[in-house]
Amino acid sequence: ATGLNAIAKSKGKLYFGSATDNPELTDTAYVKILSDNTMFGQITPGNSMKWDATEPARGQFSWTGADQIANLAKGNGQLLRGHNCVWYSQLPSWVSSGNFDSATLTSIIQTHCSTLVGRYKGEVYSWDVVNEPFNDDGTWRTDVFYNTLGTNYVNIALQAARTADPAAKLYINDYNIEGPSAKTTSMMNLVKSLKAANVPLDGIGLQGHFIVGELPQGIEDNLRAFTALGVEVAITELDIRMTLPSTAALLAQQSKDYQTVISACQAVEGCVGVTIWDYTDKYSWVPQTFSGQGAACPWDQNLVEKPAFQGIVNGFNS
Ligand code: G3I
Repeated sequence: ATGLNAIAKSKGKLYFGSATDNPELTDTAYVKILSDNTMFGQITPGNSMKWDATEPARGQFSWTGADQIANLAKGNGQLLRGHNCVWYSQLPSWVSSGNFDSATLTSIIQTHCSTLVGRYKGEVYSWDVVNEPFNDDGTWRTDVFYNTLGTNYVNIALQAARTADPAAKLYINDYNIEGPSAKTTSMMNLVKSLKAANVPLDGIGLQGHFIVGELPQGIEDNLRAFTALGVEVAITELDIRMTLPSTAALLAQQSKDYQTVISACQAVEGCVGVTIWDYTDKYSWVPQTFSGQGAACPWDQNLVEKPAFQGIVNGFNS
């Protein structure tokens, strides 16, 4: 088995997957690799299931992009991760600036989550129902949801998602919770309180947007600590960026860093799988966001495997 998903499965994981995005699907060489289910057993839409894409105006749902990814996954025999129901970003202004009272915003969340999750009922392995609820200092993000409903918006979204697709695993997904941090502590406290209140929650997604040579310490212990709270975990958006230009030394360190992350998931039974946030540098989100940085993915701009590929293999074999 040389495909990363085949290796992951042979080691007891559910999947190794990749994010993708609709504009990339006209690139036939790209799609050929993406669609090989021995390489990728799971895909996540990078943008097309977000609120701005799926409900751009209140009650007006738009499924073109989301359906395209769901159908691609189905056709390829790949699992699908839904991303996402409730997030402060890529939120249409009718939601963020609507000045709704709590009852109205509750109903807006319920309608959005149940319609979105319900559309793909039976097709989605796991949903990022709530994305990025915390600031890096561990306080709640004061977005429209929190400001109007307090922490209760999380329960509202999770309950709506559970009703819409009882078989889907429901996740909360965030970054900078891969090692010990104030944000990690807040996320663990949230898991405890939701579990104590019997709110449906199945998993925590640790995004894994890292910098070469700067991985947090203790990823494996941290994954285990989450699973001890009664949830599964997944690495949901892995990429490891560097300051450009890439050098042989940076690529070697990147390979080691990929190996470290994969081996941490491999070592923890409740870590079900790993998703990279697109597989090639050609379509990575990093350069547009962090000027002068990039080369974060295991395949280069020309869809050629980098040393990071072998790091992933080594991680699963560790
Ligand atoms: O849709 C518009 C298009 O109409 C316009 O012409 C174009 C011009 O810039 O922009 C398009 O929107 C872009 C959108 O992606 C769709 O391509 C936004 O500018 C761009 O900011 C947006 O970036 C996405 C980013 O989330 C936004 O926060 C990235 O592609 C996507 O990979 C990234 O993914 C997030 C996860 O959802 C959550 N975790 C972090 C991760 C990385 O930021």
